[in-house]
Amino acid sequence: MNAKESNPADSADSVPKLGPLPDHIAIIMDGNGRWAQSRGMPRIEGHRRGVDTVRMVSETCTELGIEALTLYCLSSENWKRPQQELDFLMELLERYLVEERPLIMEQQLRLQVIGRRDRLPDSVIKEMNETIRLSAGNPGTKLVLAIDYGGRDEITRAAKQLCDDVQAGRLGRDEIDEQAINDRLYTHNLPDVDLMIRTGGEMRVSNFLLWQLSYAELWVTETCWPEFPRSELERAIENFRSRDRRFGGLSVGQ
Ligand code: IPE
Ligand code: IPE
Ligand code: MG
Repeated sequence: MNAKESNPADSADSVPKLGPLPDHIAIIMDGNGRWAQSRGMPRIEGHRRGVDTVRMVSETCTELGIEALTLYCLSSENWKRPQQELDFLMELLERYLVEERPLIMEQQLRLQVIGRRDRLPDSVIKEMNETIRLSAGNPGTKLVLAIDYGGRDEITRAAKQLCDDVQAGRLGRDEIDEQAINDRLYTHNLPDVDLMIRTGGEMRVSNFLLWQLSYAELWVTETCWPEFPRSELERAIENFRSRDRRFGGLSVGQ
């Protein structure tokens, strides 16, 4: 018997079967400021470099045929930051929406934006609407940017809509179920999040997609967003495919 035959781990039968790719990947793109500061650069340089990672991740998801990719760009709590940093983020966002337009079209991405719109500058809203309009018929990955987004804010908004619908007689009180709530979230057209990635090492969700993350598989990495490589995204996806997703039940065969 040679060494190979004697090791059951090497036999074809024991190669773990990989599950399907995630339909929906959501990412907390964190660690921009720390990445820049540790290199003696201002925090905003980390945000600027982060755009390259956004491009790589959306390209990879397109190639893999992922249905939806949601990126946390600005939380409803991020307004607490210094005005200078916020001004830069708005400028960067506007520039992204204009300069990446040809690539969004080439990759057939369909842009969607979730979060509040009333606190964003008009110029950002204008470019956002234009890219959403242009890409609306694209059949590829849905690229969902969470901007001025907060999970609690989204659920509160849905609760108000439910209240209005019941008061107006469009919905009965007993018709309020999980689907009715889901239908009133920004993400009503998207599948639940399958894989949530957070860069920058923090083990928290920071008010991101609180409802949609219910059974998401988590991948937290110390790598900061500006240096997050394609190889690590692929590793996170491969690891996701090896997870035993039980959704509260038991493993197959148990
Ligand atoms: C994430 O990076 C980007 C935004 C929140 C806009 P940070 O700016 O939070 O970077 P760190 O976490 O301070 O390093
Ligand atoms: C989460 O990162 C928000 C985004 C990445 C846009 P934060 O840096 O705001 O999160 P906390 O403050 O560390 O929880
Ligand atoms: Mg942070």
